[in-house]
Amino acid sequence: MFDLSRRPSGSKPELYRALVDQARALLQGERDPVANAANLASLIFYTVPDLNWAGFYFLRDGGLVVGPFQGKPACVRIALGRGVCGTAAERRETLVVEDVGQFDGHIPCDADSRSELVVPLIHGDALLGVLDLDSPMAGRFDTEDAAGIEAIAAVYVGALAD
Ligand code: SME
Repeated sequence: MFDLSRRPSGSKPELYRALVDQARALLQGERDPVANAANLASLIFYTVPDLNWAGFYFLRDGGLVVGPFQGKPACVRIALGRGVCGTAAERRETLVVEDVGQFDGHIPCDADSRSELVVPLIHGDALLGVLDLDSPMAGRFDTEDAAGIEAIAAVYVGALAD
């Protein structure tokens, strides 16, 4: 059983270091991309403070399709270049959006969302999808969150090749 009561505390870098260790432990010996995404979405949602959505979109037939997540039901398909997720995927770069209302083309899935962090999942040269976090707080995410979630995305991608 995974003990979520031992929720990491301290500075953001400390929290993410602990989270990366937990993520590695959770994925150890398992390569299934859906199982690992499901467990990581849960770990992030129940460990990173102030989130209303955390989950995966996978690249399928040239567009993004929702994968395992925690939070309210979400938009199923997002075209590359559309919304925060599609833009991060197309550019293959992490996006931190302090105020989703100011992001041209933001796709509102949950009316509670105020800020968003999207990290692309890249395996070698291949774009696999994105890892998406939403918060009901404006300006919730900064470069430390981006670095921390990028490290967790790297654990996910690394587990596929283990
Ligand atoms: N807001 C995202 C869509 C996905 S949901 O937040 C879960 C976007 O603009 O791409």
